[in-house]
Order: sequence, then structure tokens, then C-alpha cells
Amino acid sequence: MDNTTRIFRIEGVNSGEIITKAARIIQQGGTVAFPTETVYGLGADALNPEAVRKIFKAKGRPLDNPLIVHIADIEQLEVIASDVPGIAHALMDAFWPGPLTMIFKRKDIVPDVTTCGLDTVAVRMPDNPIALGLIREAGTPIAAPSANISGRPSPTTAEHVISDLAGRIDAVIDGGAVRVGVESTVLDMTPDIPVLLRPGGVSIDQIREYVGDVVIGYTDRAAGAGEVVRSPGLKYTHYSPETRLVLVMGNSSAVVDKISELAREYGDRNIRVGLLVTDETAGTDEMAGYVSKGGVFLLGSRYDASAIASNLFAGLRYLDMEDVDVIIADGSMGIAGIGAAVLNRLKKAADELIEVH
Ligand code: TXA
Ligand code: MG
Repeated sequence: MDNTTRIFRIEGVNSGEIITKAARIIQQGGTVAFPTETVYGLGADALNPEAVRKIFKAKGRPLDNPLIVHIADIEQLEVIASDVPGIAHALMDAFWPGPLTMIFKRKDIVPDVTTCGLDTVAVRMPDNPIALGLIREAGTPIAAPSANISGRPSPTTAEHVISDLAGRIDAVIDGGAVRVGVESTVLDMTPDIPVLLRPGGVSIDQIREYVGDVVIGYTDRAAGAGEVVRSPGLKYTHYSPETRLVLVMGNSSAVVDKISELAREYGDRNIRVGLLVTDETAGTDEMAGYVSKGGVFLLGSRYDASAIASNLFAGLRYLDMEDVDVIIADGSMGIAGIGAAVLNRLKKAADELIEVH
């Protein structure tokens, strides 16, 4: 294929036609970015090693970071995974289609490049009609990491995909902004007690309703060089804007005090500041002078973690394009529900973490 990226815009009635064209590209071994409910994915035929290699190349993804394989029905799970425990079926009934990825023993049909040589495969059924339609029409499971350049914030709109990957992929399906905004929860089902490898769209409390015990297998920072990690994705820096990011965490009034203090100090040194803050923080008297200067992105209410999740990556990308030298991020939302995933992404993106009480 040449190096122009086709852009397919879903406009109601044309979705069937677009999915057919995009599925043809997948069947021919090409790459198509498509919306899921979490973030946009960059898809290729999971069972075609040549096609999967193109994903790694387009993203600049390290070759030891395996991909999630997306399926549209349970029959496809049987093609790629073995030893699926009963408890996993309970989780599928509860959360599929949806933002839960589970790791199982893989079958030989899955090429090494998809799993980076691991004997396991990560699988999920996305909750988006375009994604499901594409997988069905292509007639093959689709491997898809987030459709961003490796290390950048994940894409939540087709514009984000285009700004990172135009000219590097065959096509993108524009289905509008995604619903959830952070990636799926990753749960390793191969040990006796499931291990949570990434917090995401399904919360740990939701999982605990179906699984007695869950081991927390992730950290909120990039692992150090040489550290042994259970999921290859844990060792890379992630989600980072190019601009320096300072995250302030703690109880809300202390966070507001610290952010306004930092904004004043930076301002005194002629350092231009961008603010990634909750509505409540932006609305305080302390912040009024800074908020009116611009370079502000409102995440949504501190008490609405779902809204913050859906705005987070767009906010990081927006402030990265503003003329600012440093971004100060508000970490005053709690870790309840999807808040754990939001704070995990912010901590991984941060160059500096300040905890206040
Ligand atoms: O919501 C999502 O999960 C999105 C959409 C597109 O589905 N995809 C996504 O993919 O976030 P990606 O590649 O950005 O993240 C996949 C994560 C990585 O941290 C990777 O290391 C881990 O899943 N992973 C994949 N296969 C694995 C395996 N066999 N064992 C352990 N970790 C695995
Ligand atoms: Mg990713």
C-alpha cells in the first residue's frame, strides 16, 4: 500500500459500507484504526504475522510488548485461547462486551509476533458496534494496541489518531469520541488467583464481586531498568505529553493550595503554565487569577471519575499543543471506581509527583 491513510467517516447509514471496506483492508494484511469504547485501537489480522508487524512499525512500539486480541464472539476465543477457567466465563458474562481484557494460555494458531513469544494471549470483546462489526466482517480476531505513537497519550478521537499516525497506517474509521476514555482493565487469568496488571474501565471492586481474590500486579510508575515485571507494558513510560508534567496529589484543599503556589512561583520565573484541573479546583478563589489567563483544561467534576476519564487524554494532548512550558495536573480525584485508572495514567505520565496533605 502507498503511504496515504484513508479516512472513513461514519455518518449514520453508511456504516455497513465503511465496515466492509475496512474489513477488506484487514483481510489483505493492512492496518486500520477504529473506535472501541475505551480508546481508538490500531488493528490488523491477529493471525497474520506480516500484518501484525506493521502495527509495531507504525507505532514505534517495542517488540517485546504484546498486543490485545479483539474478538466479536466466544467462538473466536476458543480459536486462540486454551485452559479458560470457569471463573473467566463468569467475568465474560458480566463484562463482555466491555473494557476487560483477560489473559489465557494461547493456542499455536496465534503467531509469536502478536504475543511477543509469550505462551499467553490477552483477549477482549470491545463494546462498540463499529469494532464488533469490523471483527465480524473481517472474519478474524483483530490485534489492536491503542492507536497512538508509543509513549504518547492514547487517542480518544480519530483526530488524535490522525495527528499521530497519518501516513503510517492504511485507514482510520472515524466514529466520533469514545465513551470510556481510558484503556481496558487487564487481568491475568493464568495463575490460581487472578492478577490485575492494569487498572482500567472495569474497577477492581466490580471484579471482586465475581472473583473472590485478586492480586494487584501493577505499579503506578514505570519500572526501573532491569526490574522484573509480569506484564511487558509495565516497564515503559506512557501517556506522556512532550511538555513537562507535574502532578499534585492529596486532599482537595491541600492540592488547590499547592497548585496555586506552584502557578505563582512559575509565573514569577516567566515559566508559562498549563493547568489540567477539576472544575472544583478551577472554581476556587485561589485559582481565579490563573484560570483567567488561559492554558486551562477542565477535566470535569472531582466527584465524577467517569467524566474525568473520558476527558483525560484529550486534555493532555490539548495542553501539549498550547504554548506552555509546564503542565500542572490536579490529582485530587479519589481512586474509587475508574478513578484508580485515571490516577494510574496521570502518575505514569508525570515527570514529577508532589504529594500534599
Ligand atoms: O482498551 C484497550 O485495552 C485498548 C483498546 C484498543 O482495546 N488497547 C490497549 O492496548 O490499550 P495496549 O497495547 O496499549 O495495551 C495492552 C497492554 C499492555 O500493557 C501489554 O503489555 C499487556 O496489555 N499485555 C498484552 N498481552 C499480554 C500478555 N500476554 N501478558 C501480559 N500482558 C499483556
Ligand atoms: Mg497503549
